[in-house]
Amino acid sequence: MKVTVVGAGAVGASCAEYIAIKDFASEVVLLDIKEGYAEGKAMDLMQTASLNGFDTKITGITNDYSKTANSDICVITSGIPRKPGMTREELIGINAGIVKSVSSSLIEHSPNTILIVVSNPMDTMTYLAHKSTNLPKNRIIGMGGALDSARFKYRLAEALGAPISDVDGMVIGGHSDTGMVPLTSHATRNSIKVSEFLSEDRLNQVKEDTKVGGATLTKLLGTSAWYAPGAAVSALVQAIACDQKKMFPCSTFLEGEYGLNDICIGVPVILGRNGIESIVDVPLSDAEKTHMQASAEGVKKTNGLLEL
Ligand code: LAC
Repeated sequence: MKVTVVGAGAVGASCAEYIAIKDFASEVVLLDIKEGYAEGKAMDLMQTASLNGFDTKITGITNDYSKTANSDICVITSGIPRKPGMTREELIGINAGIVKSVSSSLIEHSPNTILIVVSNPMDTMTYLAHKSTNLPKNRIIGMGGALDSARFKYRLAEALGAPISDVDGMVIGGHSDTGMVPLTSHATRNSIKVSEFLSEDRLNQVKEDTKVGGATLTKLLGTSAWYAPGAAVSALVQAIACDQKKMFPCSTFLEGEYGLNDICIGVPVILGRNGIESIVDVPLSDAEKTHMQASAEGVKKTNGLLEL
């Protein structure tokens, strides 16, 4: 199993690290445009192998896509991250050009690859990858929901005073401060609905904290987060590589599902060896349906800024 991660910045390096630590891939190629940078990150990570007990080989390369040839999975993290006060949507101008050229270079050398798009604004970048490549839709996956759901579970556990392992929940919709739809109606603590334990006000607070999860970190760190994004990508990569058939909310091209068309947005999917193996239709409350529609309108507005 060969995995390429484009962009050796904090998110890309963190993806490579978590993939390697889980030790299911034979090779991770880390590629960056900055001379020597990916090589340095790869060497540093390889020097953790004997300490962390993994055999995955991590290779760093400067901009030579021939070295990514025959990758089973390619992750695109390249582009600029947001600064405090910026929305993910403001990154579109620069990142669209980068995502378009990176996906085409990757596919040239790995025509059978599955693409995971992380660059922001993620749903629009996933849509761009869909429109600008000829890959079937099961092989283009936007990573946002897995991260947002992890942040949701963190906030739920905090509100419940429970360990995170007791909590389950999912965030669908767009990966943006207003677009995320945390499914509080389905969230549980050890199979009991969280609404049994938390007041409506507290649940609304959890929802709001989840939606600005990335922005809160960007403010604290001065740039966007990397540990949870990297871990979320590694979970998707593992589900595909190990054919786990696990359910994650991912941004995928919709053709009527959830009443939406011609859009990539987060919905629950089953991930396995073929990438997105199916889209799962979960019943939404009326408020969640309305929120999902508004979220889709927001994503479509950003998609309208693309030059396709
Ligand atoms: C975040 C970025 C990766 O939410 O979108 O942290």
